[in-house]
Amino acid sequence: IPVNAFDLVLFGATGDLARRKILPGLFHRYEVGQMPEEARIIGSARTELSTEAFRADVRQAIEEFTPETPTRAAVLERFLLKLDYVAVDARGDAGWQALAAMLRPDVVRAFYLSVGPSLFAGIARQLDCHGMATPEARIVVEKPFGRDLETARALNAGLRACFEEHQIYRIDHYLGKETVQNLMALRFANSLFEPLWNATHIDHVQITVAESLGIEGREAYYDQSGAMRDMVQNHLVQLLCLTAMEPPSKFTPNAVRDEKVKVIEALDPVPPGDIARGQYRADKGGDGYLDHVGDAQSRTESFIALKVHVANWRWAGVPFYLRTGKRLRARVSEIVVQFRDPPHSIFPNVGPIHGNKLIIRLQPDEGITLRTTIKDPGPGGFRLAEVPLDMSFAEALGGDVRPQDAYERLVMDVIRGDQTLFMRGDEAEAAWAWVDPIIAEWEKNRDRPYPYDQGSSGPEEALMLLHRDGRRWRQIG
Ligand code: BG6
Repeated sequence: IPVNAFDLVLFGATGDLARRKILPGLFHRYEVGQMPEEARIIGSARTELSTEAFRADVRQAIEEFTPETPTRAAVLERFLLKLDYVAVDARGDAGWQALAAMLRPDVVRAFYLSVGPSLFAGIARQLDCHGMATPEARIVVEKPFGRDLETARALNAGLRACFEEHQIYRIDHYLGKETVQNLMALRFANSLFEPLWNATHIDHVQITVAESLGIEGREAYYDQSGAMRDMVQNHLVQLLCLTAMEPPSKFTPNAVRDEKVKVIEALDPVPPGDIARGQYRADKGGDGYLDHVGDAQSRTESFIALKVHVANWRWAGVPFYLRTGKRLRARVSEIVVQFRDPPHSIFPNVGPIHGNKLIIRLQPDEGITLRTTIKDPGPGGFRLAEVPLDMSFAEALGGDVRPQDAYERLVMDVIRGDQTLFMRGDEAEAAWAWVDPIIAEWEKNRDRPYPYDQGSSGPEEALMLLHRDGRRWRQIG
């Protein structure tokens, strides 16, 4: 279904994210007919560029970051005609009037700030001063949304000085991923799971976002952030919220986000003993984290595992184990819901019977698996075997459907005015309020992360977090 006509102003239009994700995403939406012919994309950055030069840059980006198809070249020619460019100075006055003059009064207006957070408030102010922050306008901001509660509050204040909360779209691209939304469908569009979705039936939950890549090209940013700020405060907390939240009464932005905030507010403080931070070490093949950031003293973690408790009626006593890290053995994101063991075995001599495991795979090969115990069909008497009930989205939905990238969906949601998959201001602040004391504790103690091998599953200490509870992480990859 095509969205309404729009003017999308993309600040940071020549930056990496715009070239890799946002513009290719818009191109795909144009390709499938969702972006109407009357839509316009106005690129903007500090550099003076002609519209022709900008279009040439976008052409290169699309050719590099979208798959080649028989129709791509022709569609690209038409797509490029939708693009304009205007240089603005985010910290000064230059260019703003020209931008204002380009906008049409009668179409949806969205400003996408694909720039560092230090520019958010300034850009919002200029948009307001030049009459562009109309009541219907939308402003989209990228992560990181601050580096602690104080900076997040300042960002919220800066944005809200010029825009209402219902106009502000804070991106967490994990919420745009197909399987993440499917988690809501799985929980709330099936009657099978919800009655079991609680401490009576669930032993624990594991949330893993493992990456095989390192911090290439982002060393300066990453070393100031670390895995806790870069991944846990946003993506992992969001996955935790969707797994743990109460059913919202309806699928509307505020009903969903109210329930997520309640989960974050119910998170217990995490004692240092329930955290394992790691840093990948140098190996035969090359440098380690410290070489990459050029600081032999850096105490920033490239890996973190934590045991987290959601202190409410539904989840009392059920640990949520979270882990994420760089340079691990594979790129895997998944949520594992481990159900309790059957209370009693009627089968003699078959050994222990394990509880079911529901595995929700975000990447790669998005899908859902339910590990089930059946009678082993082989010879040799009555034995049990664990087998997967497996569902791969690619297969289930037909191999030729190209899955939408998170950014494609999110940008279209902005145009439609649907905030369900965006973080609300109080949600971002609540997540920082939980994260801040955890970081403060290790900073006060000047704790060093544990070294771990590149291509491994992280440091031993992360394995111990579960071992000591008599549990095991599911293997990465
Ligand atoms: C980003 C983080 O938000 O998410 C990166 O800043 C990380 O460090 C990336 O690599 C992971 O996203 P995805 O979609 O590749 O899992």
